[in-house]
Amino acid sequence: MIDIKNISDEEAKKQLEYLAKEIEKADIAYYQNDEPYLDDASYDKLRRLNDALEAKFPHLIRSDSPSKRVGAMVKSEFKKVELSVPMLSLADIFSKEELQDFILGIKRFLNSSADITFTSEPKMDGLSFSALYTDGIFTRGSTRGDGKTGEDITENLKAISGFPLYIDKDVPHIFEVRGEVFMSKQDFFNLNQKNEEEHKKTFANPRNAAAGSLRQLDARITKERRLSFLVYTWGEVSDIRWKSQEEFLDYVRGLGFPVNPYNKVCHNDKELMDSFENLMETRADLPYDIDGIVYKVNDLELQKRLGFLTRTPRWAIAHKFPAEQAITRLNNIRIQVGRTGALTPVADLEPINVGGVLVSHATLHNEDEIKRKDIRIGDMVIVQRAGDVIPQIVSVLKDKRTDALLEFQFPTICPECGAHAIREEDEAVRRCTGGLSCPAQAVERLKHFVSREAFNIEGLGDKVIEDFYKEGFIKTPYDIFTLEERDAPADLFSAAHSLNLEKREGWGPKSVRKLFDAINKSKTVSLQKFIYALGIRQVGVATSYLIAKHYHTFGAFMDAMVSQDLQLLVSIDGIGPAMAQDIVEFFKEKHNIDVINKLLGVITIENFEDITNTSSEIFGKTIVFTGTLTTLTRNEAKSKALAFGAKVSGSVSAHTDYVVAGENAGSKLAKAQELGVKIISESEFNQLTLS
Ligand code: IVH
Repeated sequence: MIDIKNISDEEAKKQLEYLAKEIEKADIAYYQNDEPYLDDASYDKLRRLNDALEAKFPHLIRSDSPSKRVGAMVKSEFKKVELSVPMLSLADIFSKEELQDFILGIKRFLNSSADITFTSEPKMDGLSFSALYTDGIFTRGSTRGDGKTGEDITENLKAISGFPLYIDKDVPHIFEVRGEVFMSKQDFFNLNQKNEEEHKKTFANPRNAAAGSLRQLDARITKERRLSFLVYTWGEVSDIRWKSQEEFLDYVRGLGFPVNPYNKVCHNDKELMDSFENLMETRADLPYDIDGIVYKVNDLELQKRLGFLTRTPRWAIAHKFPAEQAITRLNNIRIQVGRTGALTPVADLEPINVGGVLVSHATLHNEDEIKRKDIRIGDMVIVQRAGDVIPQIVSVLKDKRTDALLEFQFPTICPECGAHAIREEDEAVRRCTGGLSCPAQAVERLKHFVSREAFNIEGLGDKVIEDFYKEGFIKTPYDIFTLEERDAPADLFSAAHSLNLEKREGWGPKSVRKLFDAINKSKTVSLQKFIYALGIRQVGVATSYLIAKHYHTFGAFMDAMVSQDLQLLVSIDGIGPAMAQDIVEFFKEKHNIDVINKLLGVITIENFEDITNTSSEIFGKTIVFTGTLTTLTRNEAKSKALAFGAKVSGSVSAHTDYVVAGENAGSKLAKAQELGVKIISESEFNQLTLS
């Protein structure tokens, strides 16, 4: 036993070193390998000893101290859960007319004109969960995932205060309840306030906060957050003891599960519309966010007859609330400069709560938009938020304006570098002409260059690029590849010429090594990624792929561009004259050619290999992605589809072959259903594109 009172500095130091190692080992065994070898009491003892020593010897606190690592040692991924009854989503409607169509459709399907009873339930804006009880004991919790495969959040659900671990009543042997985990508005504000004080990440809205708190590999974090939950439906149940949705809600309420008190039973469309309007009025006063109302056919027999479309039931629908608005003051108009030099105006607003979300910025689009709406600094404005889109300014309250407000003068010089900012004829944007000598453009281009679909250099995140640019370590893409050389000391005895990266705050020998390894690995790059990385205006992932496919080697592409041989370029399906123009313009700039030539000295560009598998099911097919994808970014999904010979489109039409529906897919999914387009999940898409 250690006598903390009399321990010397030296011994304490040794002890802390020992504890750091032991606790880390135990954490790895517990969190990553699911094989704990220490019982809770022994583990707690180690932690308490560590805390006590650190309290007495604060100057000895190690950089890798376990106390700094609370919650950091986590499993690297969630276990997968196969859902025997899929978790579905709902189609959205936005108007009374659509509601009437929905009811009519049901009556037609059932071939009946009798009134149908529905439940009307607030649509909770959180995350859905499924909780399986076996003989009344909570055995497994899951997220929705792609509907068929969810993530195992058993421990996280257990960490929610009041979540029933067992049901003390006679329930079906297999009994799976489903509902929503959410964070109340109050708890969200408290959490953000606390995080702000502690300089930690704040959340944009209660939904994100709930997601960030529930989907934690370390359930201790879930426990620290205040989450709530409600039940509104069921999954697998061995013996269904209710005949309607209403009876189900009563049944689970009787078992002690929380059920929304605003759920109602409605007997016709008028009652449904009334419930919608009532809730819309009450909405702001509710302690949690809702984003609409869910209507469900009450009778289970009718539900059964109505059945399902691909991913949504025919017997339920979500009636969404219109976008939310609020009034606030516009404090400033700031001009941001992007990668291609576009000057984008952003409104700084007096922070305002718009439907549960604190909004402090809004997009102003461009110069003309400001003129058209006559937006002036100091104006009172109406801000609108709709779904996940960036908040917008709807209009100005002109009668609140004092005469002194001046018309906004859009700058004609770049606020970042002072170069002229000009507007091409028939272009809405004004652009800085500074090119790479404009720091804002240079930094944005570097970020693009290292991004996932380009050189994909892990460790060079936005913040690092900004810092390294400021310090002068990385000014051009070429500098990335000489970083290691410049970081090495000039000779063994002096570090004088080294960048000394490992001495920087937040860095150490390990992370610096990791960065260099990532950079070295990226030195061999595919042709399409290289073309994308150049950041040519309008040339995204898809176009880069088309160019690579048609020229095969970078040499061939560059020769054609330098000699302005556009014949092949404009013959490519998908590349129009305006885009071709931007591409040649890029190669006319000497500084771009210089950058490319220098890069060619340090990297290897792989020739394009047509690995397209013509027997792939999606070869030659047109695909539309919609909703939030969880395992892929949109760009990744797109390039995967392209690599398998598919075309990617932004809108659903009769020519669409597949719609890949992610989470919360909305109108595109509905359109696809309407047109009978094949709808697949993200995981099905991943299956189709296994190489
Ligand atoms: S029922 C087959 N009821 O909305 C019906 N869903 O777009 C399955 N939601 O993933 C869902 N409140 O996260 C249902 N009272 C409610 C709901 C609700 C919120 C969410 C849920 C679901 C999404 C469907």
